[in-house]
Amino acid sequence: MTNNNTISKTLIVAISLCLVCSALISYSAVELRDLQEANKTLDKQTKILSAAGLLADDKDVSSLFNSIEIKIVDLETGLFNTSINIEDFDESSFSRNPNTSIELTSDADIALLKRRENFQAIYLHYENESLKAIILPVRGYGLWGTMKGYLALESDLQTVIGLEFFDHKETPGLGGEIVNPRWKAIWKGKKVYSDSGDVIISVIKGSVDKSNKNAKFQVDGLSGATITSNGVTNLLSFWLGEMGYGPLIKEIRSKESADV
Ligand SMILES: Cc1cc2nc3c(=O)[nH]c(=O)nc-3n(C[C@H](O)[C@H](O)[C@H](O)COP(=O)(O)O)c2cc1C
Repeated sequence: MTNNNTISKTLIVAISLCLVCSALISYSAVELRDLQEANKTLDKQTKILSAAGLLADDKDVSSLFNSIEIKIVDLETGLFNTSINIEDFDESSFSRNPNTSIELTSDADIALLKRRENFQAIYLHYENESLKAIILPVRGYGLWGTMKGYLALESDLQTVIGLEFFDHKETPGLGGEIVNPRWKAIWKGKKVYSDSGDVIISVIKGSVDKSNKNAKFQVDGLSGATITSNGVTNLLSFWLGEMGYGPLIKEIRSKESADV
């Protein structure tokens, strides 16, 4: 009878098992990569459509997304840039690369980003060739990490359609309520700029007093999550301000007035 209980045989079985398992893992990682990328794209498109109130149960996301035009904007000038391919634009690598981003001074860095990319991809929704919504990627620090989302504005570039976060590390039930449909619904119709053009929208502590003349610029705070709430206010102030989409918004407005 052969003795299987030897060190060499045990090693052969263990090594063979490791090789088979690693081959299986590598194969599935490679095979699933495309599927993962496709799911990521679908999720991103879903959030963009959701921010703009364009999701519909009876239509699939990819066909709805055909109504969205993607453009790269130079954040410094507010002008559209046509030399960068949409496919080549990657927010996180652009924001880390010193050639494609700027370091923010502590005064300017209200959303705690450290660096800001010089370009961003923005999303425009047209109906019968007229602009209906502009969807802007926004991000900023909450309590535990960076909250990433999309802010959709009506064509007046002043009225909120929706604010949709797709990535955050806030605590479920506290700061994590930024994704609660009831809280998201409060944003619709809120105004972001004051008459003098300053970013005025804010998440307040407590509930908004509807009789207050500033109610249209205010959103109910998340209870027990003032730090996250302030993070949302700060990220909107940053991205709608001069260091964010301010120049783009001025540029679109000046074109509109020239068209009249
Ligand atoms: C485990 C734990 C998780 C918390 N998560 C959050 C959070 O996600 N966002 C937040 O603003 N505050 C969070 N807080 C509470 C903050 O520390 C802080 O007390 C709160 O933001 C103050 O808000 P309030 O003035 O509305 O109570 C957490 C606290 C604890 C103990």
